[in-house]
Amino acid sequence: MIIFAFLKIKQVVKLHDLQFKPFISEEEIQKTVQRMANEIANNLKDEVPVFIGILNGSFMFVSDFVKKYPNPCEVTFIKLASYEGVKSTEDIQRLIGLTQDLSGRTVVILEDIIDSGNTLEEVHRIFKNANVKQLIIATLFYKPEAYKKDYKLHYVGIEIPDKFIVGYGLDYNGLGRDLPSVYQLKTTQHMTNLVLFGPPGAGKGTQANFLKEKYNLIHISTGDVFRFNIKNETALGMLAKSYMDKGELVPDQVTIDMLNAEVEKNSDANGFIFDGFPRTNAQADALDKLMDSKDSQINAMVALEVADEVLVQRLLERGKTSGRADDADENIIRNRIKEYYNKTAILKDYYSAQNKYFGVDGVGSIEDITKRLSEVIDKL
Ligand code: IMP
Ligand code: MG
Repeated sequence: MIIFAFLKIKQVVKLHDLQFKPFISEEEIQKTVQRMANEIANNLKDEVPVFIGILNGSFMFVSDFVKKYPNPCEVTFIKLASYEGVKSTEDIQRLIGLTQDLSGRTVVILEDIIDSGNTLEEVHRIFKNANVKQLIIATLFYKPEAYKKDYKLHYVGIEIPDKFIVGYGLDYNGLGRDLPSVYQLKTTQHMTNLVLFGPPGAGKGTQANFLKEKYNLIHISTGDVFRFNIKNETALGMLAKSYMDKGELVPDQVTIDMLNAEVEKNSDANGFIFDGFPRTNAQADALDKLMDSKDSQINAMVALEVADEVLVQRLLERGKTSGRADDADENIIRNRIKEYYNKTAILKDYYSAQNKYFGVDGVGSIEDITKRLSEVIDKL
C-alpha cells in the first residue's frame, strides 16, 4: 500500500506524448474541498441539497466532497463531454442527462474544472425548464483567463492559470484521472541538459562539439559567455567587469543571469551542455532553480575520466605544439589536475545524490569516447 502511494507521488508524470509537473498537492486539494463543503453547508442549513457531479472529471471531487459534507444530502451525476486532447471544444455532447425530477429542489452543480464555460452553458440549458428552487455552481478549479461566459460561479475552490492540468479526476486523452494530486503540462518538453566535466586534457571541448551536433544541443561555455558579455559591453558584462576590476569574484547571480540570457536566446533548443559551470554547490542549486523556472532540469553530470598520468602525457604533448605556457610545465599541469579534483569532488557528490552522475572512460579514440557518452545520453 505504502509503496503504491509513494509511486504515485513522482516528480514528472508522462501521459501519452506529454510531460506534466507537480502542481497542486493532495493535501491542498483536500483542504480546499473541506473548505467548500463547510461554506456550502453553512449557506444551505435548512435544506437537503442535491449535489450533481458532471462526469467524468468530477467523480473524485464529488466523492471527497460528499464525504466531507456535514449534513444530509443527495448525490447524482450527469455526463457531458467537451474536451479533445488538451483543448476545449464548443460542441458539448450530452451523454447522460437528468434522470430524476428536481422541481423545487436546491441543486448544487459540482464541477471539477471550469475552463471556457461551454460545459457550464450546457448545464444551464439542461436546468432551464427543470423548475429547481435554485441552481448553485461550485467548481474545484477555475481558469479565469479562459472563462468566456457570464454565469455566476457561486463557489470556487482554486483559481489556476490557463494551462492544461491532469490528475484528481482530470485526464489527458483518458490518462491521469487516477492521480491523487494535480499536475500541470510542462511548457518545455523532453530537454536534455548536461553538465559536462573533465580534467584538463580529457578532451572535453572535442566531445562537446560532437555531442552538440549529434543531439542538437547548445554548448554554453561559461568562459565564452563571460568574454562575449564583456566584449559586447552588455549590462551584465559591465556588471561582471566591475567586480573583476576590483579583484573580486563575480557573484553567482550575475553568472546565472548571463546563463539565463543564453538559455532564453535558445528557447527552442533540444537542450544545453553546460561547460565550466557549476563549480560549487550554491551554483549547482542556482542552476537547478534556473532550469526549474524553464520547466526543465539538469538530466546528468557527465564526467570524462582519465588517469592522471595519461593527462600529463597528453598535455605535455599538446604543449610542444600549442605554445601554451601552462601546457609546458609538468608541475603546473599536475597542479591543475589536482585543483580540478578538489573543485569537482563536491559536484560529483551533489549530482550523485540525485542519481545524475555519470563517469565515462575518457581514454581511447575520439569516436569510442563519443560512443560511450552517447550510451549514457540515450538512456536519459
Ligand atoms: P469548459 O467547457 O471549457 O469550461 O471545460 C470544462 C471541461 O473541460 C471540464 O469539465 C473538463 O472535463 C475539461 N477540462 C477543462 N480544462 C481542463 C484541464 O486543464 N485538464 C483536463 N480537462 C480539462
Ligand atoms: Mg468535467
